[in-house]
Amino acid sequence: MKKIVLAYSGGLDTSCLIKWFEEKGYDVIAFIADVGQGEDFTSIKKRALATGASKVYCLNLQKEFVTDYVFPALKAGALYEEKYNLACALSRPLIAKHLVDIAHKEKAHAIAHGCTGKGNDQVRFEVTARLIDPKIEIIAPVRFWEFKTRDEEIEYAKSKKIPVSVTKKSPYSIDVNLYGRAIECGVLEDPWQEPPEDIYALTENPIKAPNKPTYVTIDFVKGIPQKIDGKAYAPVTLIQKLNQIGGKNSVGRVDMVENRLVGIKSREIYENPAGTILYAALHELECLVLDRETMRYKQAAAQKYAELTYNGLWCIPLKTQLDSYFNTVHKNTTGTVRLKLFKGNCTVAGRKSKYSRYKEEMATYGEKDIFDQKQSEGFVKLWGMPFA
Ligand code: ARG
Repeated sequence: MKKIVLAYSGGLDTSCLIKWFEEKGYDVIAFIADVGQGEDFTSIKKRALATGASKVYCLNLQKEFVTDYVFPALKAGALYEEKYNLACALSRPLIAKHLVDIAHKEKAHAIAHGCTGKGNDQVRFEVTARLIDPKIEIIAPVRFWEFKTRDEEIEYAKSKKIPVSVTKKSPYSIDVNLYGRAIECGVLEDPWQEPPEDIYALTENPIKAPNKPTYVTIDFVKGIPQKIDGKAYAPVTLIQKLNQIGGKNSVGRVDMVENRLVGIKSREIYENPAGTILYAALHELECLVLDRETMRYKQAAAQKYAELTYNGLWCIPLKTQLDSYFNTVHKNTTGTVRLKLFKGNCTVAGRKSKYSRYKEEMATYGEKDIFDQKQSEGFVKLWGMPFA
């Protein structure tokens, strides 16, 4: 019997997929990845089995997600098209890796996913899986199966008694994990329309957010966040905690029209409170401890890192090389940043580090000044000389 491991979310598409493969004579093993989407995994597991999966794997990958994917991207300062913290994009290579792992364990010759042919996720899953195992077969039926609309899928699900709840039909397509939430479709498909307030789940409406600012301090060691307000947190709880604090203050909403790899422009709304806070904080620390040339050079590397991640190239050599580069960049980004969160804003209030390059005696206009201004005369002349 042909065996296939399916990345299973519990939604309509992947539930229909279990049945669809079963009808084509496959033994279907469902894989549920817990990347912090906060769902009821026990009932999703039950649903997979009730629909026809012969076995279910449900793995908690949250820690691995934060440590090996989120933190490296944070250290790289990777923001796709200057706005998107890549929450969804970062989870895909992780899921793909475990999908292949399970396939090997189960001696399955193929893996499957429920991505459409229009998105980025198909690329991220497949490129990663093939880089790990070039021989693995990948089947993505949503790109070619017989159902043209969601209603046809619902009909199929009903006729096959697939236990999915399609009663409260949301007009949106939503992807959530520990590091953020992405919302598209429905009214959002018109880029001129302001997103309705009810699409948000992680962030409070700014009008209802506290009328007084919330201060939060974050301690970093070599570019990795370790403490919030002086208290140490493990990676997963640190992100959860910052999502809470930021969300309450409406921090982390992003509305963007982005360029998908397949050539389509799409309008996406993101909520990423923790990511917004961490990027802002680490950037401020970098401004304090990094020299000018490093600071500027790393911008280009950050952009490249974001593109590679977005475009499904997380596992190629260049990304690993960039990780090594960013590890050296962060040799001294150890210190504390104090931020002020207020009705959607996240601004810096203070920063300190034992590796600070800031020299008060150089910057000051007061009595402590040791800067020899006479030297500037010659410096400025020479600086402009080539252009005279
Ligand atoms: N545009 C984002 C990406 O490609 C998120 C994709 C999933 N979005 C969604 N709303 N289902 O990484």
